[in-house]
Amino acid sequence: MAIWYEKNISDIANAHLRDQDLPYTYTGALTLEQNAENWQKFFMEDEAPALPTAIAAMDFAFSQKYGGYDYARDLRSVNPDWIKPLNMAFSSLDFPLDKPQKIVAMGANSGQELDDIFGLQQANYKIDIVDISSVAIAKGKAENPSFNFRQGRMEKAPFLTKNYDLYLNLRTIQSSGADKVATVRESYRLLKENGLCVMSVANGYLMPDKKGVLQPVRGLLDNKKLDEDLPYNIASDVETSMRKTGFALEMHISGPTEIFVVGRKPKK
Ligand SMILES: C[S@@+](CC[C@H](N)C(=O)[O-])C[C@H]1O[C@@H](n2cnc3c(N)ncnc32)[C@H](O)[C@@H]1O
Repeated sequence: MAIWYEKNISDIANAHLRDQDLPYTYTGALTLEQNAENWQKFFMEDEAPALPTAIAAMDFAFSQKYGGYDYARDLRSVNPDWIKPLNMAFSSLDFPLDKPQKIVAMGANSGQELDDIFGLQQANYKIDIVDISSVAIAKGKAENPSFNFRQGRMEKAPFLTKNYDLYLNLRTIQSSGADKVATVRESYRLLKENGLCVMSVANGYLMPDKKGVLQPVRGLLDNKKLDEDLPYNIASDVETSMRKTGFALEMHISGPTEIFVVGRKPKK
């Protein structure tokens, strides 16, 4: 059986579209096969008649890959300190963990990471979670009923209103088809003035060695090859988008499992 990161979002989405005789192709980003119209346009315009089909194909593919995500095979499982950079950011950037906070987490799957980050303090917070996978959302609702789950996409979440103290988006911006610019703009819309935006880019995996024993490796897979620079390049693109959108960049921390980029929405 393929290990989770070998499951290719394009292959799964295309098989799903073919099974339904739908005339679309997913090529890293969904494209309309008949007129080769750019997927980003097709996917981002809510009016586009094919949008529900595109979202359903994304849901299907991400649910296959991440619906039953096993954190025991995740790089964080051998790096329990992965949270340290976040705690450093919260304390030095004056995000008071002991006060009620309104938090939105994009691509947080079934919500386990929110439990890991906030522990018992989460009782103080209102936490909304958005993920494209309906399977991850169903799992989250069953396992973490104190969080509010919605299926949706990080690029555009009109069902959320703009009053969050903290926006979290961990290890999702490097996902297939993700639109970094739209995602950063949406994070800006969702935050209160002075609110913090924390994004991270995965920088490694646990991969089986020749004997099948999981070992940590650095980089991100690109065309089945590990590219050690890719996480830094993606993090740099995210920083550029944040600056252009109006965020004040506060921190860039390279941790054992991901690179964190933290910005603040300035006061007017
Ligand atoms: C690599 S997992 C990361 C999960 C968790 N944040 C973590 O770091 O362990 C990526 C998650 O993002 C979701 N996802 C991918 N693209 C998305 C999008 N455009 N909008 C919302 N969620 C997305 C996937 O379904 C999956 O649950």
